[in-house]
Amino acid sequence: MTRTPVTVTVTGAAGQIGYALLFRIASGHLLGADVPVRLRLLEIPQAVKAAEGTAMELDDCAFPLLSGIDIFDDATKAFDGVNVALLVGARPRTKGMERGDLLEANGGIFKPQGEAINAGAADDVKVLVVGNPANTNALIAQSHAPDVPAERFTAMTRLDHNRALAQLAKKVRGTGARVSVADIKKMTIWGNHSATQYPDIFHAEIAGKNAAETVNDQNWLENDFIPTVAKRGAAIIEARGASSAASAASAALNHVHTWVNGTADGDWTSMAVVSDGSYGVPEGLISSFPVTTKDGRWEIVQGLDIDDFSRARIDASVNELSEERDAVRKLGLI
Ligand code: NAD
Ligand code: LMR
Repeated sequence: MTRTPVTVTVTGAAGQIGYALLFRIASGHLLGADVPVRLRLLEIPQAVKAAEGTAMELDDCAFPLLSGIDIFDDATKAFDGVNVALLVGARPRTKGMERGDLLEANGGIFKPQGEAINAGAADDVKVLVVGNPANTNALIAQSHAPDVPAERFTAMTRLDHNRALAQLAKKVRGTGARVSVADIKKMTIWGNHSATQYPDIFHAEIAGKNAAETVNDQNWLENDFIPTVAKRGAAIIEARGASSAASAASAALNHVHTWVNGTADGDWTSMAVVSDGSYGVPEGLISSFPVTTKDGRWEIVQGLDIDDFSRARIDASVNELSEERDAVRKLGLI
């Protein structure tokens, strides 16, 4: 193998998403089938042994692309030389915890991780935050990495994007049409990875035709599609007794793969990225937008018409992000 391995750091490696993610990274689904990877796993001390078990299994798969695995309980070491950082480990909300407590607990994780990325990451580092509340955790990490360009910190709404593709394809198949998710382009998730997010089909296309016009069912859009996508995470928890893991891992792979390898012509994806003020989203918030990617860089799709229906929903989610930013600012986390 002649290519230099790409260093990928995964936090929360012993968790359920970690288990669904690591084997696919090592088999080429993150960066490509010809890109060797070196894994660096970060866990809390109590979970290092479990991460070691996962590393033993990774060894046992004899993945040709996997050039090494190191395990750490120290963020500075784990992020040393990192090219792709997947920040999955987070403090879940437990009974009796207020939102402020959750933000504070996660600040205790994402602030030092931002500092460690600032101190030791490679010049081309790309960061994806999966751990919830993902957008605001990404903001915290980014604000503690002043030497890393802000656009390298992103949060995951690709799972919501994929959920929206699946729900829309199912609806259209229900009319007897033969449609696969691959026929749907230009889906957009706006705002926060939370129940306020806005999955927008007004610019989406199904086999080249406008999706909203093709579906032509406002009742389904308002009372089925939007709430189903926005509350899917909670529905999975209710059904499985645990939050989404394989689908979340799959979306994380999609997010990074698209960021590195580019969106297809005539399509875009959804990523939570730092706002430049586009579409009235306050500058600096990490909010989901329609983005195209090329040569490892993303760009917000410009010039989309936003009607009153969409405007109200984008504003509601963005207001929630502003409130989260105010809360972490008050806590001294940014
Ligand atoms: P999990 O509880 O199974 O695993 C989390 C792991 O993180 C644990 O092994 C824990 O020890 C570890 N961890 C905690 N603090 C850490 C730290 N400071 N450094 C390193 N590791 C640390 O959880 P999971 O199911 O794997 O989910 C992980 C996160 O992803 C949760 O916050 C979940 O809500 C979120 N999530 C986000 C999306 C999304 O679309 N953005 C989707 C699904 C889940
Ligand atoms: C999801 O969308 O599946 C998760 O973010 C849900 C959660 O709270 O972990």
